Amino acid sequence: MSAQQQVDSININGNSAPFSVYLDEDVYKLEQEKLYRGPVWSYLGLDVEVPNAGDYKSTFVGDTPIVMTRDEQGDIHAWVNRCAHKGALVCRERHGHSDDGAFTCVYHQWAYDAKGDLRGVPFRRGLKGIGGYEKDFDMAEHGLRQLRVATIAHMVFASFDQQAPELEAFLGEKMCENIHRIMHKPIKLIGHARQYMQGNWKLYSENSRDAYHGGLLHLFYPTFGIYRQSQESEGVLNDEGYHNYFNVSAPKKKVDYAEFKEEANREMQGAHELKDPRVLKFVPERDDSVGLSIQSLFPSVVLQQIQNTLAARQVLPKGVNGTELVWTYFGFEDDNEEMDRHRLRNINLVGPAGFISMEDGEAIELCQNGVHRDEHERSFIEMGGTEPAPHTSPIGMDENAVRGFWKGYRKVMTSS
Ligand SMILES: [Fe+2]
Repeated sequence: MSAQQQVDSININGNSAPFSVYLDEDVYKLEQEKLYRGPVWSYLGLDVEVPNAGDYKSTFVGDTPIVMTRDEQGDIHAWVNRCAHKGALVCRERHGHSDDGAFTCVYHQWAYDAKGDLRGVPFRRGLKGIGGYEKDFDMAEHGLRQLRVATIAHMVFASFDQQAPELEAFLGEKMCENIHRIMHKPIKLIGHARQYMQGNWKLYSENSRDAYHGGLLHLFYPTFGIYRQSQESEGVLNDEGYHNYFNVSAPKKKVDYAEFKEEANREMQGAHELKDPRVLKFVPERDDSVGLSIQSLFPSVVLQQIQNTLAARQVLPKGVNGTELVWTYFGFEDDNEEMDRHRLRNINLVGPAGFISMEDGEAIELCQNGVHRDEHERSFIEMGGTEPAPHTSPIGMDENAVRGFWKGYRKVMTSS
């Protein structure tokens, strides 16, 4: 089957997809073209990662290398990290600062400004009448490829597509509200963690939208009482279905482990206690009761508030069998020293080796290894329904947002 036929065969309601979409090189190529360069906005980073003029961060949109910069006016720009001369990477560091605001390719020293415009070419007019470019060589025609850039709260996004709707329209009202809810005041950067998974990026995109596995795979949650399937919760999708968030209320009273026995979680002995329970502590920070929020924004980022752990997880495809997950942790500018310490302690919950999240990387690899060879067989995504509903409450007994992901993915991938 061609890549397009495989994508066409995804159920239109998102409740089943052929395993080949995790394995096929042609599907991967089609995604780079139709999806990552299509009418979507891809997350680049947080504005606090480039606080000053001349700061930069190199990252990716899909698998295309991109640099995010800040110019003298304070504006953020994004350009393809590929010299207009020979295609070399211009920027070779993940983060940095350019004192003179120039970005110079190491190969032939072509120099660009923060916007990506070409500013200098060595020996442009040759030397003593020898060599150099023709008289009609115009530097304005040899800049770096620039992307549209837009921000919401502190999140910076970019798009290759001039036709893509404005960022806020792309995200939809509900998604924007929850971003502002999580980032309700100025933030500060804490740091990064990076994780490489040997599995297709869509397996991770499903995982972050999969409420069904929360209390089942992640035993830490129910064992220590910070999440269980009967907690007050809701799931919200945008119109296309491919963005979603889960918001779960923090337990209101002391957790009664005896209650858990009624619920469908495995191994609910619930007798375990941590020697140092401070890692579990939740300090309310907003005018709501939400203690856990996981928001997946198609195609490239998960924004999370788990207890007091705040992070953006950037999902980067690395070939058909690989995904890099870049965790960027943040707190609030007005956090005091005690809160800084608390957040650092809380971070043990989520990350590449987090008490709650390390199993996800393993689950992705289990699926990638499991689907091998039988590409025509299909997933079965009918927990709690056969199509995506815009709102569900409570969550945990459904795969609603996973269906939403596939419905939206299919729509982007099959549009002409
Ligand atoms: Fe998970």
